[in-house]
Order: sequence, then C-alpha cells, then structure tokens
Amino acid sequence: MLAGKRILLIVGGGIAAFKSLDLIRRLRERGATVVPVLTKASEEFVTPLSTSALAGQKVYRDLFDLTDEAEMGHIELSRAADLVVVAPATADLMAKMAAGLANDLASTLLMATDKRVLIAPAMNVRMWEHPATQRNLATLLGDGILTVGPDVGDMACGEHGPGRMSEPLAIVDAVEAALNDGPLKGKHVLVTSGPTHEPIDPVRYIANRSSGAQGTAVARALSALGADVTFVTGPADVPPPAGVKVVKVQTAREMKDAVEAALPADAAVFAAAVADWRVENASGSKMKKDGSGNAPALEFAENPDILAAVSQSKTNRPQLVVGFAAETDDVIANATAKRKRKGCDWIVANDVSPETGIMGGTENAVTVISDREAETWPRLSKEQTAAKIAAKIAEVLQ
Ligand code: C5P
Repeated sequence: MLAGKRILLIVGGGIAAFKSLDLIRRLRERGATVVPVLTKASEEFVTPLSTSALAGQKVYRDLFDLTDEAEMGHIELSRAADLVVVAPATADLMAKMAAGLANDLASTLLMATDKRVLIAPAMNVRMWEHPATQRNLATLLGDGILTVGPDVGDMACGEHGPGRMSEPLAIVDAVEAALNDGPLKGKHVLVTSGPTHEPIDPVRYIANRSSGAQGTAVARALSALGADVTFVTGPADVPPPAGVKVVKVQTAREMKDAVEAALPADAAVFAAAVADWRVENASGSKMKKDGSGNAPALEFAENPDILAAVSQSKTNRPQLVVGFAAETDDVIANATAKRKRKGCDWIVANDVSPETGIMGGTENAVTVISDREAETWPRLSKEQTAAKIAAKIAEVLQ
C-alpha cells in the first residue's frame, strides 16, 4: 500500500510516456499522491491536460513560470516527495543525471532532491546498449539510484531487445519496495549472487551453472522488508531485482573487492556460486591451435574465499553472516562442517545433485544450519525460500 505517500513523477520524452498515464492511475489506486512533472519533450507524447486529469494534481511543466515558483519552489517540490520516479527515463535524462546537469525543471529537481530516485529506462535497443548509456547507468547505480527494467521485447521502433519500459505494475512494485517501511528499514544487507566467470583468455572462461535465481530472490525479499540492499552479482541469467543497489562483477577477485567496498553491513548473505579456482596462466590474447595436437595446460590458483574472509574479519564482520552450501552428497554433514570452517552464523544447505533439478531450476529444498540447530524446510519456490530466509534475518536484526 502506498497510502499517504507522495510521489514526484518525472515523465521523460519517449513513446513509453503513454504508459506513465496508466502508472499514475495504478499508483493512485494504491493510495499514493502523484505530482507529475512533464519535460518539454514529453509534451510531444502526452498532454498536460490528460496528465493533470489522471493525477488530480497540478502538472509542473518545463516551461514553468514565476507563479509556480511562488507557489512551490523547485527545491521544495523535489523534497516534498517521499520518492522521485522517472518514467520513462530516456537516454537523454539518464545522461543528464549522470553528468549532474541542471538545465531544465526535471534535471534541476533531480539534482535538488534529498529523496531516493527510481528510474524506469525506456529507449531504442541500440541506445540502451550504447556504451555511453551503459556508462551512465553504472554511474547512476553507483550513486544509489534505483532502477526498474528495461524489459526485453518488441519496441515501437520495430526493433527487438532490451529497452521497453517496464509495465506499470512492475514499476508500482519497485515503488513499494523503495518506500517499504518493513522490519528491516534502516538495515544495510549485502547479498552476493550468480556465478563468477574466470577468464582463460580474452574470449574463454570457466563458469558454473548457477542462474543467480536464489540470490536474486533473497535480495528482492530483503528489499521488500525494507532493507537497503547492496547486490553484488556475477553474470547471472536472471535480471537483478528492482530497488536495490547493483554492483556487477565477473571474477571472484572482483566480487571480493566489491564486497569489501560495500561493507559495513548489518547482515551479509553469500548466495553466489564463486569459482574455487581461477586460471593462473590466463592468456592476454586468444589461445590458438598450433597444429601440434598439444592442448594448452591450464594452471589453477585458488580464489579468495569471500565468505570465510568476511566471517572471520576482526574489523568489518556484519552482525549476521549467512553462507550457502551447494552439495551433492552428505548434505547436512558437509554443510555443518563448512559452517564451522568458514565461521559464518548460518549455512543454507541444499542438494544440487542433477536429479533434484535445483541448480538452474525454480524450486529449492534447504536446511538452515546454525550453531544450535538444523532446520529443514519443505521444497518451495526460490521466492518462497527467499521470503523465509529474509524473515529469519529480520528476526535477528530487529
Ligand atoms: O566452499 P563452498 O563454495 O562450498 O562454500 C559455499 C559458500 O561460500 C557460499 O555461500 C559461497 O557464496 C561462499 N564462497 C565465497 N567465496 C568463495 C567460495 C565460496 O564467498 N571463493
């Protein structure tokens, strides 16, 4: 529910702006007050009249005049909100935000606000994939800007791929997550997820079958309980959840650096399937067959154990450290020994033998092992398992 919440909705100038009218309706259905701001370009796609009629509010326009300033200055306007939402966030708006420009009403509000900002990017596939946009996105994520989407699909311009604005209901979910006053409000929780890729040469790497589904679900569930989540993810199959701070990495060593940079945290959940070894003699250029029939000999070096390092840290140990143990035999015995060896508080153990279908699947069956007990949960969806883990974490941190 969003009753009593005030959302400043900045509508960017793209074809997806028409969906923002539905977004206004959906947000109001949940009790929110929506104050719309139209950029000059968005007025090419939606009219101030329709926006104002749906919002039941005055619309702030790029071409605002002194009367508006007298009623409510732009600083006040940006701060009276509980959350600032940019939908659609065009490539241009994202670039302005990343660069810190303040040359129109929308960008000025985004610079002046002291509230969290959620963006729903929408643009042509090529524009989304352009290095400049990806660079801007990385900057914005680093600034703590929250994102939802874009989705993959057919676009108004006739192309297919990532770039469609998320559907209004998905944006509403992200808004609720961003505003959540749950039991973990004010708590910072770090989650690692996905596999790591360890390069052999510039085009080849060693990986594993982790999809990142369980870690992503845990991050989403923690965020839904109000936690401030930093999500450090390897190259996963599933997109990161909305409303969390995302840090993307490739290798175990990059993951370790990202985890250390994200500390301190109240709790940390290590759901990533980190490669135990990396190729020590990785080649800087692509390895080629030389016709001799001899295959290259790869030498391996052990990767840092991130979970063990954080669990045993004298200076930066979170109050609660949770590891995962993917085992194929003697699950409970191995996971119990692993918990002690690593020094974490809980190990979430699961059987990833191929016949269980858990690795890469949609369900999980886990036993949560602490120093006092081993609690076995029934086979549940990864979302339900995540919700139970998040609730258990909330009990400890409260
Ligand atoms: O040692 P093993 O990989 O079985 O332990 C699994 C747990 O340890 C998981 O929580 C995983 O995220 C974490 N881990 C880690 N760094 C590694 C290896 C595993 O954080 N290098």
